[in-house]
Amino acid sequence: MASNPMKISLLKSNLEAVGADLLALPFSTGALKKEAEEALLALGFDIQVLKDFKADAGEVVVLYGGGKKHAAARIALLGLGEAKTLDDWRKASVSFASKAVDMKLGKIAVDCSGIKSLSAATGQSVATLAATLVEGCSVGSYRFDRLKSGKLDKKKSAPKSKEIAELLLRVDAQESVEVEKGVAEGKIVASCQKMARDMVNLPGNYLQADDIAKAAVESGKKHGYDVTVLHKKQIESLCMGGLLAVNQGSFHPPTFTVLDYKPKGKAKLVVALVGKGVTFDSGGISLKPSENMGEMKSDMSGAASVLGAVEAVVRLGLPLHVIGLIPATDNMPSGTAQKPGDVITTYSGITVEVGNTDAEGRLILADALTYAKEKYKPDVIIDVATLTGACIVALGYGVAGLFSNNDKLADEIFQAGQQSGEKVWRMPLWDLYDEQIKSDVADVNNTGGRGAGSVTAAKFLEKFIDGHKNWAHIDIAGPSFLPKGGGKVNGGTGFGVSLLVELLKKWA
Ligand code: BES
Ligand code: MN
Ligand code: ZN
Repeated sequence: MASNPMKISLLKSNLEAVGADLLALPFSTGALKKEAEEALLALGFDIQVLKDFKADAGEVVVLYGGGKKHAAARIALLGLGEAKTLDDWRKASVSFASKAVDMKLGKIAVDCSGIKSLSAATGQSVATLAATLVEGCSVGSYRFDRLKSGKLDKKKSAPKSKEIAELLLRVDAQESVEVEKGVAEGKIVASCQKMARDMVNLPGNYLQADDIAKAAVESGKKHGYDVTVLHKKQIESLCMGGLLAVNQGSFHPPTFTVLDYKPKGKAKLVVALVGKGVTFDSGGISLKPSENMGEMKSDMSGAASVLGAVEAVVRLGLPLHVIGLIPATDNMPSGTAQKPGDVITTYSGITVEVGNTDAEGRLILADALTYAKEKYKPDVIIDVATLTGACIVALGYGVAGLFSNNDKLADEIFQAGQQSGEKVWRMPLWDLYDEQIKSDVADVNNTGGRGAGSVTAAKFLEKFIDGHKNWAHIDIAGPSFLPKGGGKVNGGTGFGVSLLVELLKKWA
């Protein structure tokens, strides 16, 4: 599934000698006047351009000409905004790489000689800034074009939108060790994020439950951790009634994939990560409206982030025992499909009235949560899922919903969100919401009626953790997939990988 990763090299030469298709000179609004003028004059450019360039975070102005000789074919002014937060720096990195891809440039460079003072201004380490730059460039240069044949392109010779082949970072000698460290880490997170993004973007006819399992097995083989795939027969003998009920209408069998990474030495914590892997959510018999239904190919985003996060933990060698659990199936209507009103028995033994077959995510997660708790006795359980449209109504496409029965855990996840840029906002789990998911015929109903849809979904999940005291549920329905028109690059974001890695690093 992987393509060639971007090659990243450090350069200690002077600015004029940096040979690239585009060299970025980053400036903050505060330093703009003095530093940018100096730099422009030194390179022989007209400082009139500073009338237009405001150094807003993510602003890019490409300059041509210039009097003095420089090896770079083009120079870009790159805005850092006030450069007070990591978000400013991330935004600039994403925007610069995105611009370079749009211009079809293969080799780009960033002048990082100001990274030490940026470190002071943001309160972030040089390594973190370097890692964020690498991740940002990867995010910004990402395009999903593997399903384009190019056969209908007007100019047959025109290259397909290509990814950036090489990134050069110009650093001062004193910073190079720390930058190197950050680059190494950033590369790992970026590659895991990209893997997740590719999976989310793959449509239902390219990615079935079995393909998720295969991707996990491949990752396990490559990076040296255990992956076990439970197939339909085993899922049946375990009586995972939630997963089986959702799969009942499908032509394709379900899978339940367990990723298990144990570090070399003693593990500081046992962490279970559960990811919703619905490869396509039609709604089932409670069929969704057809408009934009295609976006439901992204309903396995939780699974993709869990796979990405586990792989990243392995490659970073964090001293944690991390278990990833991925229940996977599509949700289809057919003569064999489950029906509204059905009562099913989940893996836990808890019975569920299926008020709506479109509330399928919680059914497959129920089994996985119980399995995680019972089998691994983890210190922490976190599930990640594109669970409710209601969460998008509440928080939009930029922020995930966070639910937890543990204040400390909730705070740690919130902080990880602030640091990684993958923001979460906590919502309540008060018992008063239980009223909405009461059932007359079963232990609980899988739908909670009109109000607070993302809360009642979380309350439902809570029933299946068997009293575990350190659980969190992250509803990524909004930020996992940006619909058309949301931004320049639509589709899968890989949301969750960076957030989880940030959190797990704190525990390592
Ligand atoms: N996968 C959807 C939630 C979703 C909606 C994710 C939009 C991303 C974008 C989930 O399975 C679902 O259908 N939820 C229902 C629950 C309802 C039937 C109680 C919803 O949100 O409408
Ligand atoms: Mn659904
Ligand atoms: Zn769904």
